[in-house]
Amino acid sequence: MSLATLPKIELHLHLEGAAPPAFIRGLAAEKGIDLRDIFTEDGGYAYRDFTHFLSVYEAATSVLTGPDDFARLTTAVLAESAAHGVIYTEAFLSPDFCGGGDLGAWREYLAAIREAADRAEASDGIVMRGIVTPIRHFGPERAKPIALCAAETAGEFITGFGIGGDEMAGKLKDFAWSFDMAREAGLRITAHAGEWGGAGSVWDAINDLGVERVGHGVQAIEDPALVDHLAETGVVLECCPGSNVVLGVFPSWESHPIEKLRTRGVRVTVSTDDPPFFRTTMSYEYGRLADTFGWDEEIFAQLTRTALEAAFCDEATRETLA
Ligand code: ADE
Ligand code: ZN
Repeated sequence: MSLATLPKIELHLHLEGAAPPAFIRGLAAEKGIDLRDIFTEDGGYAYRDFTHFLSVYEAATSVLTGPDDFARLTTAVLAESAAHGVIYTEAFLSPDFCGGGDLGAWREYLAAIREAADRAEASDGIVMRGIVTPIRHFGPERAKPIALCAAETAGEFITGFGIGGDEMAGKLKDFAWSFDMAREAGLRITAHAGEWGGAGSVWDAINDLGVERVGHGVQAIEDPALVDHLAETGVVLECCPGSNVVLGVFPSWESHPIEKLRTRGVRVTVSTDDPPFFRTTMSYEYGRLADTFGWDEEIFAQLTRTALEAAFCDEATRETLA
C-alpha cells in the first residue's frame, strides 16, 4: 500500500495556515514587509507555543492584502494537497482576513479563491469547498458580519460555517446568533473545540451550537460519557494528530487518543490543520498513523468513507468522489 498515492479526503485545513513559508516570504519581499521574526533559519515558521502560533499566523497572513494574493495562495495550497493524494479538501476561509467582514470585499476575495479552486480542479482533479470561519478571540460582535458574509454566499462552494482561534477566549454560546444565521442559510456547522478546552468545550459545541462535526475534539477522551455520546450520535471528529503533537496538546504520537476514540466507535477523520506550521502533510499523517497504531488499508478505507460521508458538499459532488 502506497500511503502517498492513496486518495484522501481532508476536512480541516486553514487556507492561510497552509501557506508555504516561501510563498509568504516572497509576498513579504514584493511588498517590502519585514517578517524576518516569524521564520526559522531553515525556512519554517517560528513560534513558541499556541498563543504565539496564533500571532505568527496573523503576521504571516498580513502579507495577503488582496483577492489576487488569495488566488495565488489557493493555487499553491491545492497543488501541494493534490501532490499528497488529496482529492477533496474543505478549507476554512476567514473573511476577517479577506476584507475585514465587508460583504462587497468578501465577494471579490471569494470569487478569486473560487476561480483558483476551479482551475486546480480542472488541472489536478482536486475538489475544494469552503467553510467560513470567524475567529474566536476577535469576539462575538466581530463574528456577526462574518456570519452575514457566510449566509450571503452560501451555496455550492461555501458549504459550512465554523469557528477557529483561541478556544479559551469567551464562551461558545456567545456566538450562537452567528451560528443560527449560518444554519438558517443552509450552512453545515462545525467548531474548534476540545483541542485546548477539555471535554466541557466539546459538550458546549454540541449543546450550544448544535455542531455535526467538531474541529479536533480529541480531549473528549477525558469524559467517557462524552465518548459514548459521540459514538451514539455519530458526531464526527476532525482529528489533526500532527498538529496536536507539535503544539503540545499530547506529548507524542503514541499518546494521541485517535486510536482509542476510533476503537470506541467515534467517527474520526484525519487532517493537517496548518501543514507547513506543523511540518506535516496528509501522507505524513497517514505514515505516522500506520507506524504508531498499525493502521492498515482497511482502516484507511474506513477513514475515507467516514470523511466522505461527513463532507459538507452536496450529494452530486459526493458521488463524483466515491
Ligand atoms: N487556527 C489555525 N489553526 C488553529 C488551531 N489549531 N486551533 C485553533 N485555531 C486555529
Ligand atoms: Zn484548525
